[in-house]
Amino acid sequence: MKRRRSWLFVPGDSERKLAKGPSTGADVLILDIEDSVSPARKPVARAMIREYLESAERGGAPLWVRINGLHTPWWEEDADAAMAGGADGIVLPKPRSPADVFAVAGRMDGREGGERESPARILALAGETARGLMSLHEYRPGLPRLAALSWGSEDLGTDVGALRRRRPDGSLLPLYEVARALTLAAATVAGVDAIEAVYADFRNLDGFRRFTEEALEMGYAGGAAIHPDQVAVLNDVFTPSEAQLAEAREIVAAFEQSGETGVMSIGGRMVDQPHLAQARKLLRRFA
Ligand code: COA
Ligand code: MG
Repeated sequence: MKRRRSWLFVPGDSERKLAKGPSTGADVLILDIEDSVSPARKPVARAMIREYLESAERGGAPLWVRINGLHTPWWEEDADAAMAGGADGIVLPKPRSPADVFAVAGRMDGREGGERESPARILALAGETARGLMSLHEYRPGLPRLAALSWGSEDLGTDVGALRRRRPDGSLLPLYEVARALTLAAATVAGVDAIEAVYADFRNLDGFRRFTEEALEMGYAGGAAIHPDQVAVLNDVFTPSEAQLAEAREIVAAFEQSGETGVMSIGGRMVDQPHLAQARKLLRRFA
């Protein structure tokens, strides 16, 4: 499977940014028709994205499309354009609950035009409204087309009337820590990847690196970028070192050779079933 460490948002009505996308090194490009596009420009972005999808040389970074939310009059046309153009996936903003994922998956069925390597999937920005956050406990395994969950501090803050989302030292206020943690838990329950939220202060790359390292340590599989400079940080942080990969391979191989042994000592360290599961997960995700 292709790696999905870095998901770069590209405003869908910007010719310059669309042109720049493929050279940024992002693992996935998210062609946006939602929050980076004004209401007046939605049709322009939709048409530009459709054309971009049809003319883009495929085989590079997968091309996903962020449609407008199901509370808007635009989402069906957005989804239809994405599917007709051969998008690799749809990013669903502000889902109110998993029912919105079902609705989008249903809309996608039978509309798979263009070329794509595998059936189009969904990344749901599940924790970016208060209602979405409160519905995270409803996510279950086997949701149709679901590939990943994410959240968003900007929209969540706007929704609740926040004046700030972080403390002066850069740490997240409690609501956002909760959203970050519960999105990870919900993704785990649903059996899909958790993708870290946008970090809006895009010139602060040191702060972004710390935020991303914490995401990796928490269990996130990748993260979102809004600027090309953030992509290198995501790719770097979400790429395990050769030593980490070698250790994981060693653990898997040792258990495979030992048959039914549940616990053993490797390099003087106790290694048992959770370590084996973690090694397998690391290799599946990043190798
Ligand atoms: N995707 C692709 N290219 C991008 C980009 C993006 N998200 N952000 C910037 N670039 C390009 C710029 O066009 C510029 O290239 P160019 O000289 O060939 O035109 C280059 O990268 C450097 O950009 P820079 O001048 O540093 O940034 P900016 O001031 O032009 O733009 C933002 C700053 C925040 C407006 C811009 O990064 C952006 O639009 N980000 C995406 C916002 C978004 O999608 N929001 C919704 C998701 S929450
Ligand atoms: Mg948004």
